[in-house]
Amino acid sequence: MSKVHQLLIFLCFLSTLTNSTNISSCISNTPCKCILTEHSFILNNCLHSLPDLPIFNPNTSINITTIIAQYALNRWPLHLCTYSNIEILDLSGSNFDSQYIDLSCLTQLIHLNLSNTSMKKIPNFDKYSLKYLQILDISNNQIEILDGSFFRLLNNLSILIIENNPLKEINYFEYLLNLSYLKFINLISSSSIMTIKNLLTVTQWIDLAHKWNNSNKTFIIRTNTFSLQSILPNPEQFQLISLDLMKIILKTLSNSTFTTLFSTPKCNCIYIRNYQQIFSFNNYHKNLSSLFQSTTCLMPNGIIHARLFDQRTFTDLNLFKIHVHF
Ligand SMILES: *[C@@H]1O[C@H](CO)[C@@H](O)[C@H](O)[C@H]1NC(C)=O
Ligand SMILES: *[C@@H]1O[C@H](CO)[C@@H](O)[C@H](O)[C@H]1NC(C)=O
Ligand SMILES: *[C@@H]1O[C@H](CO)[C@@H](O)[C@H](O)[C@H]1NC(C)=O
Ligand SMILES: *[C@@H]1O[C@H](CO)[C@@H](O)[C@H](O)[C@H]1NC(C)=O
Ligand SMILES: *[C@@H]1O[C@H](CO)[C@@H](O)[C@H](O)[C@H]1NC(C)=O
Ligand SMILES: *[C@@H]1O[C@H](CO)[C@@H](O)[C@H](O)[C@H]1NC(C)=O
Ligand SMILES: *[C@@H]1O[C@H](CO)[C@@H](O)[C@H](O)[C@H]1NC(C)=O
Ligand SMILES: *[C@@H]1O[C@H](CO)[C@@H](O)[C@H](O)[C@H]1NC(C)=O
Ligand SMILES: *[C@@H]1O[C@H](CO)[C@@H](O)[C@H](O)[C@H]1NC(C)=O
Ligand SMILES: *[C@@H]1O[C@H](CO)[C@@H](O)[C@H](O)[C@H]1NC(C)=O
Ligand SMILES: *[C@@H]1O[C@H](CO)[C@@H](O)[C@H](O)[C@H]1NC(C)=O
Repeated sequence: MSKVHQLLIFLCFLSTLTNSTNISSCISNTPCKCILTEHSFILNNCLHSLPDLPIFNPNTSINITTIIAQYALNRWPLHLCTYSNIEILDLSGSNFDSQYIDLSCLTQLIHLNLSNTSMKKIPNFDKYSLKYLQILDISNNQIEILDGSFFRLLNNLSILIIENNPLKEINYFEYLLNLSYLKFINLISSSSIMTIKNLLTVTQWIDLAHKWNNSNKTFIIRTNTFSLQSILPNPEQFQLISLDLMKIILKTLSNSTFTTLFSTPKCNCIYIRNYQQIFSFNNYHKNLSSLFQSTTCLMPNGIIHARLFDQRTFTDLNLFKIHVHF
């Protein structure tokens, strides 16, 4: 520890000397290179050599708003609290033990990058006051459970990247869907099996559709583990949601990519008919959105691999003859 202190004193000295210009080999006994400005510092090439963030000048740490320290740390930095005004924090590539991650000092964060940090669990963001957070990257970790309720209070969250984690379970997805500003969520998982728990109820979908109608937003979900149908209410419950609200839901999600239904039980023709009825509005457009193109259904006869939502399937199956009331 005393070595670290020496180092820090050295750094304070250096930073006053250089008065906010670049310096290289800035932290002795490490390969680090630093770029310092009044409001930020970037550490390069540290190669996991740091046990903590350096404090260049205790008097002005409070003025630092950006810290970029990729592949720099070998544990969670205790000095974070010295920098309580940071808005951009990139600690990607460092090695953290999930249980020590503590964001309680940081209330001003807008952009947080914890990609590729060996995290096994998502920090419980519910415990922290991160109301300004807009971009969160927790990709390339070992996260298996995504609990939507952890994100409940991240009102300003707009982009959430969870790509390339071995996700096995999603719980309370509704909290994510319900975040007013969330417009992109990347859930492309390195694991192929996913369980979704506590799915949205029909009432929650209706509430959500009203909210989406008023906000006009698009919500892009990227996933390789679940189908759109698996999160929507069962086709038998469709009539409980008005066609107008269903259209709003589909319009909002129309640029998303879900998986096909291949891995789920075979489609029931009745279901196909219900889906078709709902989704047929989209057939006015010659080019279907990726949402519709990516949705395929294995029919009970085991032969027809039909897109759920195109007109051809609709007519091939003579489904248009069956009249459905909503
Ligand atoms: C700061 O670093 C950049 C890139 O490393 C370099 O181009 C620039 O000349 C440096 N400025 C000073 C004042 O050393
Ligand atoms: C911090 O502030 C104190 C008192 O204001 C001053 O004596 C000291 O030199 C400052 N340290 C740095 C590194 O600027
Ligand atoms: C740094 O913050 C102090 C107050 O904490 C303030 O007095 C000072 O002007 C700030 N310096 C800069 C360069 O913003
Ligand atoms: C997070 O950092 C990684 C590199 O370490 C980078 O590839 C990625 O784009 C960053 N994420 C965001 C959202 O900036
Ligand atoms: C993650 O970090 C390790 C070094 O810690 C690096 O070798 C690997 O390429 C990184 N992976 C990604 C996806 O960035
Ligand atoms: C979102 O962030 C802005 C500042 O960027 C802030 O004024 C606003 O209160 C935040 N919204 C919420 C819901 O916290
Ligand atoms: C969704 O957010 C609204 C506020 O925008 C809130 O009233 C509602 O309770 C939330 N619903 C869920 C299921 O969290
Ligand atoms: C909502 O969408 C309509 C039609 O696409 C557009 O005219 C309107 O400006 C949008 N409203 C907002 C708040 O984005
Ligand atoms: C969507 O909002 C518009 C006004 O913004 C309203 O006229 C329409 O009835 C709403 N649709 C539904 C299904 O509530
Ligand atoms: C969907 O993506 C296409 C192509 O990227 C884009 O042109 C279109 O505006 C997007 N639609 C919505 C509703 O965001
Ligand atoms: C629509 O599809 C046709 C071919 O089917 C293609 O040539 C055209 O570029 C597409 N238009 C758009 C806007 O994607």
